[in-house]
Amino acid sequence: MIPINLNLSGRLILAPMAGFTDSVFRMICKRFGAAMVFTDLISARAITYKNKKTFEMMEFTEEERPIGIQLCGSDPDVMAEAAVIVAERFHPDVIDLNFGCPVKKVVNKNEGSALLRDIPLMSKIVSRVVNAVNLPVSAKIRSGWDKESENPVSVVNMLESCGVSFVTIHPRTRAQMYKGMANWDWIRQVKENAHIPVIGNGDVLGSQDAARMFQQTGCDAIMIGRGALGNPWIFQDAAMFQHDAVINSLTHQLPNSQQPDAAERLSLAMTHLKQSIEKYGEYSGIRRMRKHLVFYTHNLPRSRELRKHLIASKSMRDVEDVFREYVELMKKSEARSQNSESRSQNCGRIGF
Ligand SMILES: Cc1cc2nc3c(=O)[nH]c(=O)nc-3n(C[C@H](O)[C@H](O)[C@H](O)COP(=O)(O)O)c2cc1C
Repeated sequence: MIPINLNLSGRLILAPMAGFTDSVFRMICKRFGAAMVFTDLISARAITYKNKKTFEMMEFTEEERPIGIQLCGSDPDVMAEAAVIVAERFHPDVIDLNFGCPVKKVVNKNEGSALLRDIPLMSKIVSRVVNAVNLPVSAKIRSGWDKESENPVSVVNMLESCGVSFVTIHPRTRAQMYKGMANWDWIRQVKENAHIPVIGNGDVLGSQDAARMFQQTGCDAIMIGRGALGNPWIFQDAAMFQHDAVINSLTHQLPNSQQPDAAERLSLAMTHLKQSIEKYGEYSGIRRMRKHLVFYTHNLPRSRELRKHLIASKSMRDVEDVFREYVELMKKSEARSQNSESRSQNCGRIGF
């Protein structure tokens, strides 16, 4: 087992999210304080076929380090072969193995969370990969296939004995998909029984949640997924969570990270868009960004209308125009509401 220092620059980590966590978004999250990032899940078989698009998905910049490349597959030989190709060609800091993906397309191939039903095969995959590469290997699991078979403590004990350097646990079963709440008590139990670092994951949407997860579970780091979409600011508080003593002194009144205002959100969305276009060209850059734009504008006033226009945008110019018109509209409506407020105050003063 190759140990890894998870306390490099914080304890909040960006989760792999297929279709979202490309190099551009990972870099933005790093700049906001993410301590580590991961690629989307990558098919081990496609790697062994040396598929060009698959190789492009694994490219990253030095700024993104430490980075894990996440592999998905169910054949131990293919997984080991893919891991060797990845290690030699990309030199990531970690190779992560996906044992959590609940998607039908993946599970039907006996990959991702399906392996939680076949622990002997999972153990074979892990041992083969650990022995094949000279890099830390980690695993990301759900708490189980379903409620009846849920037993993450013994799965993590097995992973540890096969030589993984750390483990991430998302305590929902495959049957739950994304429904209900993640059961953080499994994270606590896994942490109490493990001798390797444990990363907790699930339902952390702000600093308050992060503090609660650290306090309730004792996990070594927290992986944040949906909470980072349109909201890389979530990593800004990373420094606060660097030391146990600080976490333990945090009260329940800990405020969630200060929410950025509309101007800040739109400005970061525009930067993200520009970087996406630089990397993929205007046509693909815009299309890849649409779902991110939906998240950046989530909860803004009149966000539904705004999103409709953004989704129809075909160029950076279109998006700039939509944002400019939106800001002007907001300024006008603010001025109108200030005017009516001051009129009603004046009315009050002259005795109406
Ligand atoms: C759109 C989307 C794509 C995801 N893709 C992956 C993936 O490629 N690999 C993986 O291990 N988990 C993937 N996940 C799961 C997340 O990494 C994370 O475990 C899950 O969202 C729970 O964390 P959260 O509550 O912080 O979002 C994905 C989740 C979402 C919402």
